[in-house]
Amino acid sequence: MSTERKKVTVPELKEMKARGEKIAELTAYDYSTALLVDRAGVDVILVGDSLAMTVMGLDTTVPVTMEEMLHHTRAVTRAVERCLVVGDLPFLSYQASREEAVRNAGRFLKEAGADAVKLEGGRNMVDTVKAIVDAGIPVQAHIGLTPQYVAQLGGFKVQGKSEEAAQKLIEDALALEAAGAMSIVLECVPGSVAAVITKELAIPTIGIGAGPECDGQVLVYHDMVGLFERFVPKFVKQYANIKGEIMRAVGEYVKEVKEGAFPEEKHTFK
Ligand code: KIV
Repeated sequence: MSTERKKVTVPELKEMKARGEKIAELTAYDYSTALLVDRAGVDVILVGDSLAMTVMGLDTTVPVTMEEMLHHTRAVTRAVERCLVVGDLPFLSYQASREEAVRNAGRFLKEAGADAVKLEGGRNMVDTVKAIVDAGIPVQAHIGLTPQYVAQLGGFKVQGKSEEAAQKLIEDALALEAAGAMSIVLECVPGSVAAVITKELAIPTIGIGAGPECDGQVLVYHDMVGLFERFVPKFVKQYANIKGEIMRAVGEYVKEVKEGAFPEEKHTFK
C-alpha cells in the first residue's frame, strides 16, 4: 500500500463542494503545529494574521507585517505534506495599489512556499482579486466580519443582520467569485445568509461563526485546542484543554527542579 499523501489542490476544493464533501480548514503558524494539523487530516491550513493576537499578543490583527507573515508561513510549509497552505495578506499589503497586492501575494508563493493567499473585502477588492488571480495566484476571499476593518466596523460584531446588509454580502460573494476567488471565508454571518451564499456559489464557502450550511469550516487553532482564552467567541468549540495540560506539566517541572527530583540518573550522562 502506498504511503504517499496526495497534496490538496485548488480544483479539488471545488470538486469537494460539488460532491458534498465538507472542507476542514484550520490555522497554524509554526512548524510543529503544522505537522500535527497536516497529519491529522485537515484539508487547508491558513497562516492567518490572527497570529498577531494569538502568538504576538497584540490587540488586533492590524499591526502585523509582511515579513512576520512570511516568517510564519515558511515555518508552516516546511512541515506540510498534504494540506493546501493559504498565507494571509496583512493589513496594508494589498490595499494601496493592485501592483503592490500582486507583488506581496507573489511573495507568499515565491519566498514562503504557500499555495494561495487570503485577503479581506468584498466588491471594493474585486479588481485586486482579479489582478492577483491573473498573475496565477489563487485567492481565498474573506467577507462578513473582516478584522482588518475593525476600526470601520466599530468592533468584532456579527455582520449581515439586516436585510440590506445580507443582500450586500450576497452581492459581494457573487462579485468575488466572478473575479476568480477560489473560495470565500464567511466570518460572523447569520447562518441563513451563509446558506444562501453557499447555494448561489460554485466555489466553496468556508464558515467561521456562519453556521453548518457552509461548504467547510475554519477555526483558529489556539481557540479550538483551548490555548488562547483572552477572548473566546461564541462560535468556537473547544475540543481540548491544552492550556490546562501545559500548566500542569510546567508546574510539575518547576516543583521537581525546586525539590531536586529532576533530573534523575537516567537523564544524566555518565
Ligand atoms: O486570520 C485568521 O485566522 C482568519 C480566520 C479567522 C478566518 O482570518
